Amino acid sequence: SQAAKPRHLMSISDLTPSEFSSLVRNAAARKQDVKSGRVSRLSGGLAGETVAMMFSKRSTRTRVSTEAAVTMLGGHPMFLGKDDIQLGVNESLYDTSVVISSMTSCMVARVGPHSDVTGLAEHSTVPVINALSDDFHPLQTIADFLTIYEAFPSSLSSNNTLDLNGLKVAWVGDSNNVLFDLAIGCVKTGVDIAVASPQGYGIPDHMRQLINSAANGVQSPGKLSETTIPEEAIKNADILVTDTWISMGQEAEKQKRLKAFAGYQITNELAKRGGAKDGWKFMHCLPRHPEEVADEVFYSPRSLVFPEAENRLWAAVGKFQSTATTTHTWTI
Ligand code: CP
Ligand code: NVA
Repeated sequence: SQAAKPRHLMSISDLTPSEFSSLVRNAAARKQDVKSGRVSRLSGGLAGETVAMMFSKRSTRTRVSTEAAVTMLGGHPMFLGKDDIQLGVNESLYDTSVVISSMTSCMVARVGPHSDVTGLAEHSTVPVINALSDDFHPLQTIADFLTIYEAFPSSLSSNNTLDLNGLKVAWVGDSNNVLFDLAIGCVKTGVDIAVASPQGYGIPDHMRQLINSAANGVQSPGKLSETTIPEEAIKNADILVTDTWISMGQEAEKQKRLKAFAGYQITNELAKRGGAKDGWKFMHCLPRHPEEVADEVFYSPRSLVFPEAENRLWAAVGKFQSTATTTHTWTI
């Protein structure tokens, strides 16, 4: 008989609302354990296990958080950059996936086309985690919801779900991979999300359908709205979010994009004009460039960006620990 298929994480859309909430709550719990000093060492859920990290693009947060989390849990993170292995030059995705999964307990992969990470997952005998593709960034979204949960503590609910109903996120900038998983997370947790992107840089139809379908089975899902006018999205928002206008792989479009996004920089003046809520907060997955957000916001007390970055560690710890009872029976 065939071994059970491993559970992969390609996108937040792979998770039920309660699975997603569990990952956020696990992250919060492990952070609390360690920060309070209650636990000096996390249990070695990954003792003797190797986690292969196959990265075809640069990374600071995802690499460091994954390596640190695996180490904290007693495992060995094995970083394989694009110049280290045969993949993409000398060997197929299929062969690479079969071979690496025969020797390790998990693959964490950062790729260009999303089909690269789903292709790895399809042929892998161990769980594969998407560490950023052109379409999704699920580990970022888990950390982002931990950050939201900490900034808006009333979001704790008793039935193992995050109850964030009534919050509004405004995303001002490019409709990209980070937005897509964030929006899916918002819909699943009851957070309204308004997106303002310039004409031609909005959410593709198939992605809009996927985001809206995250509402299936959710009692009061968050609503997605779209506009080309930043002020319209910002109206009554609790959290303003953006990301780079030029994602990895889009470097050749830099000049064109800088022009198209003129007027989309998040500033105090824009937030005021748009009518954000008084206590509005700012988030950004990083790396950040000044064109998408002014220093006055980025380095202000409203900014959650550095706790948000640190939360990548706790999100990774929560993800690995909660699911690593034995690597082949990971459930989330
Ligand atoms: N936010 C994020 O994924 O950052 P890195 O590209 O540095 O990993
Ligand atoms: N949208 C960015 C996120 C980097 C973490 C990119 O894909 O380059």
